[in-house]
Amino acid sequence: MNRSPIGIFDSGIGGLTVARAIFEQLPGESTIYFGDTARVPYGPKSAETVRRYSLEILRWLLDQRVKAVVIACNTSTAHALETLQAESPVPVIGVIEPGAAAAAAVGGERPIGVIGTAGTIASGAYAKAIRRTVPDARVEQRACPLFVPLVEEGWFEHPAADLIAREYLGPLAAAGVGALVLGCTHYPLLKPLLQRVMGPGVRLIDSGEETARVVASALRERSLQAPEGAPATHRFAVSDDEARFRQVGVRFIGDRLARAEVVPLA
Ligand code: DGL
Repeated sequence: MNRSPIGIFDSGIGGLTVARAIFEQLPGESTIYFGDTARVPYGPKSAETVRRYSLEILRWLLDQRVKAVVIACNTSTAHALETLQAESPVPVIGVIEPGAAAAAAVGGERPIGVIGTAGTIASGAYAKAIRRTVPDARVEQRACPLFVPLVEEGWFEHPAADLIAREYLGPLAAAGVGALVLGCTHYPLLKPLLQRVMGPGVRLIDSGEETARVVASALRERSLQAPEGAPATHRFAVSDDEARFRQVGVRFIGDRLARAEVVPLA
């Protein structure tokens, strides 16, 4: 048993989708969330830069005495998971393996679609992880960089979002994908729109929800769960602009997000 919080980090606000899944599936666990709002987006940045930022955040979370770290950001997971695992004395869990495993489990003949930031797609991390389970899987990938600013702006159902989604997803729908991995923290917020564009026969896979399941079993295996009945607390920190973080964030995790500290890293 261990009362320490779980550290969760992302390049910005989108990782709250992963935090929400952890709150729902592990209601007894305390968390500390860090959103690197000063340096978002990570998607178009080099692997080296994303690794450096991720290491800085890891060190800050370790200073807060977290018992495990969840990399909510797909781009950080793609570029920095192994580095962070090598550096960290506590378990580090990324979002790509869990999302890829869920996609591989869908089965059937249809190709698997993966959407993410430019960095995540260029790394090929999802395709590699899917093919570790299904070696001959057909994977259709597409970077959708404009989705991130749309979500940061809170434009979940805006006509501009609809237009952009049709442009990005048209080729994936035409390829007949049976499942679409939402390989970016921000995309679950666009789920209703993405489901409409892809059609009801396509299964949307939310890497965040899959990751929360993996976090639960990782804590269990290492006997790191919080004692039953202990009250859970949730702390939020950002590297800049906490007002906007709260304003948009409250729309998807509600009043748990009463306040956020500003921690300028580096
Ligand atoms: N958090 C990033 C991810 O999941 C998306 C936003 C960004 O580009 O920083 O890949």
